Amino acid sequence: MHRIISPSVLAADFSNLQVMCDMINKSEAEWLHIDVMDGVFVPNISFGFPVMEAIKKHCIKPLDVHIMIVHPEKYVKRFAEYGASTLTFHYEAAENPDAVIEQIRAEGMSPGITINPDIPVSVLEKYIEKVDLVLLMSVFAGYGGQKFIEESYERLEELKKMVDRLNPACRIEVDGGINASNAGRLFDCGANVLVAGSSVFNAENPLKAIRDLINA
Ligand code: DX5
Ligand code: ZN
Repeated sequence: MHRIISPSVLAADFSNLQVMCDMINKSEAEWLHIDVMDGVFVPNISFGFPVMEAIKKHCIKPLDVHIMIVHPEKYVKRFAEYGASTLTFHYEAAENPDAVIEQIRAEGMSPGITINPDIPVSVLEKYIEKVDLVLLMSVFAGYGGQKFIEESYERLEELKKMVDRLNPACRIEVDGGINASNAGRLFDCGANVLVAGSSVFNAENPLKAIRDLINA
């Protein structure tokens, strides 16, 4: 599978989302990562549907939506209406992950499932055949700009084996603390989608930062 970069809007300048979208549109980033936080599942609150609507109006790339919210099942339909292509929810936040996966698919989106760094990778085993994407958090969900957790490489290798065995078409995405110095190793360990917030949007040249991640 080829390398996809999904820049995380959380680190962008919210006073000018149109400029951000123009940059993404002409960049080599294939997706745009949207982090939705509810202040309950994670301590932080990010943004919600009105911001997503503004982004959707200007961004031509598929929206890769990562929901860090309790009761994901309540909002699946609305994320579809607001233009999500991929909808990734937290295993820890769902009472019935199978039902959420089915619901996401029924709404015409690609289902993704994710876990925080303190959850064993093995819990994902029974969902891998049903999803299009597994997201491995390489920081604890909740904030941008955190330091990459080194144990993530081992977890990624374990996940890669599981995906190869059960659903080789399933994408493996990694999120948190990713920059040009760890991206190459993550791709080598089996990731095909890398999320990057600070390392793209705090860069002097975000277009180059995206290119550097792909070629890392
Ligand atoms: C963290 C979010 C990440 C975050 C990544 O909860 O899921 O997507 O925005 O930001 P960086 O790349 O700055 O760690
Ligand atoms: Zn995210």
